[in-house]
Amino acid sequence: MTQDEMKRAVAQAAVEMIAKRLDKEMIVGVGTGSTANCFIDELAKYSDRFRGAVASSEATAVRLRQQGIEVFDLNQVDRIEVYVDGADEFDPRLNLIKGGGGALTREKIVAAVAEQFICIVDQTKQVEILGNFPLPIEVIPMARSYIARELAKLGGQPVYRSGFVTDNGNVILDVQDLEILDPKTFEKHLNGLVGIVTNGLFALRPADVVLMATPEGVQTLR
Ligand code: 5RP
Repeated sequence: MTQDEMKRAVAQAAVEMIAKRLDKEMIVGVGTGSTANCFIDELAKYSDRFRGAVASSEATAVRLRQQGIEVFDLNQVDRIEVYVDGADEFDPRLNLIKGGGGALTREKIVAAVAEQFICIVDQTKQVEILGNFPLPIEVIPMARSYIARELAKLGGQPVYRSGFVTDNGNVILDVQDLEILDPKTFEKHLNGLVGIVTNGLFALRPADVVLMATPEGVQTLR
């Protein structure tokens, strides 16, 4: 089974997981990335069974509309019952690193609102300790060098994602060489640094369920 086939399989599993709950009032939170794109394509098959979606990025909004799914601004929506998104890494407690696609801020906002966060990944994303994947940090442009120095003090190697601007007009530092032994404490510390908009650790609000594709099938981890 190729990685693409695993992404499609886990996207189908996510749609099956939420299909019974879909109703005409329901707004689905939708993430960003290649696995989330597979989810959008599967979800579109049920587009007459729910009201629409909130997108975690401009790219996702475009794809949702192309698939005939109405996109709502989060401010128009009282409730998101379920949010489905990929991740770059997840650990045994379902803490995540996200933001490889640069959409971490809106992803974290939608995840915060959602009652249930279903994370869809293939088995290559599973780790014991987060940090092998460089941790994305969205930074206000004028704070980039200051934040890079602060991240270096924490033992990381920040790398500026050259030529990339987020949907919010900010820049990304990808922090290499981290071994994140206490994700919640590290996330809180990063939240306290002025100039950081969002860090890509999802530990204070981890996934509720991880659906992980393997060549033998999709596993459900809670
Ligand atoms: C985007 C993300 C993605 O969920 C993450 O990068 C995984 O992407 P993919 O499904 O393409 O591997 O956090 O900001």
